[in-house]
Amino acid sequence: MGKIIIAIDGHSSCGKSTMAKMLAKELGYLYLDSGAMYRAVTLYALRNNLIDKGKLIYDKLIEQLPKIKIGFNKNLKTGKSETYLNEENVEDEIRQLPVSNFVSSIATVAEVRKRMVKQQQLFGKDKGIVMDGRDISTIVFPDAELKIFMTALPEIRAQRRFDELKKKGSSVNFEEILKNVKDRDKQDTNRKISPLKIAPEAIILDNSYLTRQEQLTWVLEKANKIIKENEC
Ligand code: CDP
Repeated sequence: MGKIIIAIDGHSSCGKSTMAKMLAKELGYLYLDSGAMYRAVTLYALRNNLIDKGKLIYDKLIEQLPKIKIGFNKNLKTGKSETYLNEENVEDEIRQLPVSNFVSSIATVAEVRKRMVKQQQLFGKDKGIVMDGRDISTIVFPDAELKIFMTALPEIRAQRRFDELKKKGSSVNFEEILKNVKDRDKQDTNRKISPLKIAPEAIILDNSYLTRQEQLTWVLEKANKIIKENEC
């Protein structure tokens, strides 16, 4: 009763997934990381030589799309949802820079998007879901009851991603990450299909100088108000 869909879009590495997870936990909703799906397709392409000298072999990828099965399973130790590619846990590998550097190109392919969007819409058919990405409030769930557009300064976003990867033991370079953040924003905003844009009814959240708790409180207040209205 009263369950809603919360769609979160925004720039790369601005903490959308962190916020979406916290929000889902508070509300007892499902969380889905749509970016992880594009990342898993990218990993498949990299592993199966569908990218040659930095160029995507488009026809081969399209041909092999039916072979790419993406799923999410809960890690029983941590309670966190993890991404699976053809039954293999690829949660860590999809976050690494080789995937990050190519994912926005894969995300421009119409056939890839069509498949991912269909799967995402199925996840949300019973509502009670928080999903983050680039086209969630515009294409996947244009009727979502709450739409949020998140952003933060590029340098702050790069620093957060740098800290996160370093903590996981990856050897990372700040300038390289900053370039990736800026390149992806450009590619995501300028692509022809489902570009990243602010949905007309979206609330903008710039979290450059907000703590996780501050932004959670801000969004929770808005979500609870809509949920209450929906119950009436
Ligand atoms: O690194 P960050 O968490 O910001 O990105 P992500 O959510 O993991 O998404 C990785 C990439 O997938 C984005 O840069 C987009 O190019 C693409 N993407 C998309 O096109 N549509 C979505 N709904 C989600 C991600």
